[in-house]
Amino acid sequence: MSGTTAPTPESPDFDQSLWAKANFSQEYRDNADHYIQDRHELLRLLKSFYRAFAKKTHGTRVCDLGCGDGVLCQQLLQEDPSIEATLVDGSPQMLSAARTRLVDFPQIHTRQQSFEEWMQSSTDLDPFDFIVSSFAIHHLHLPDKARLFQSISDRLSEGGWFLNIDTVFSDEPGFTDWYYQAWQEWVNERDAKLRLKGAFSTIARKARLNPDNKLSPLEVQLETLRAAGFHKVECHYKNGLFVIYAGQKQG
Ligand SMILES: C[S@@+](CC[C@H](N)C(=O)[O-])C[C@H]1O[C@@H](n2cnc3c(N)ncnc32)[C@H](O)[C@@H]1O
Repeated sequence: MSGTTAPTPESPDFDQSLWAKANFSQEYRDNADHYIQDRHELLRLLKSFYRAFAKKTHGTRVCDLGCGDGVLCQQLLQEDPSIEATLVDGSPQMLSAARTRLVDFPQIHTRQQSFEEWMQSSTDLDPFDFIVSSFAIHHLHLPDKARLFQSISDRLSEGGWFLNIDTVFSDEPGFTDWYYQAWQEWVNERDAKLRLKGAFSTIARKARLNPDNKLSPLEVQLETLRAAGFHKVECHYKNGLFVIYAGQKQG
């Protein structure tokens, strides 16, 4: 099935999001370690999952959607330097930072594309073995997430895996306030340890109010993945809003 369904009228363009602003993406690159809850653990699990399920003998074809400055691919390349990686992001500044970070790895391709453009692009290229994303897909409304999951399925080899590290809502809305609060507490504890002087003391509230963040409930996303042709769909990590889920394209 092709993933070229038309965008919904609510599908905002990348250019209208804060990520299109150079200073916004610079702030994220400078500070993400301070406010992405358990970032180190999330990246450790990504590498472990890669070793256990996605790694081929040589030249695993990886795609990172919303790659930012290439942090995921750097981790994977440290694990397996034979990876051939395609990094996709709407932001030229992010892609430039990714090229700098990954300068030692020649098998890197960067594509400046919005998710919308990526979904419209040809499916005739060699399929990927592993498609990953972190903290990018929550910028899409649920119908657009569904279209993206279908496009991901269309671009994976049979048996290939998709893994998403992201923020989601609880399926029980009653937990949402606490999850934001618990996130802020994590940030505040790190702040105290590193003496950051309260630099991120309102990050959870700001993220909640930011209209670019369109979190959807976890179970709905897992169901949407199954509907797009994935099996072995599972959430492998959950700590409040922060999750890792994955699925395998059915052969
Ligand atoms: C929170 S950052 C995450 C970056 C990186 N994956 C990481 O974990 O550090 C979100 C990234 O998604 C990109 N992005 C957001 N919306 C996008 C869209 N509609 N199309 C393409 N890229 C998008 C942004 O430019 C940004 O690099």
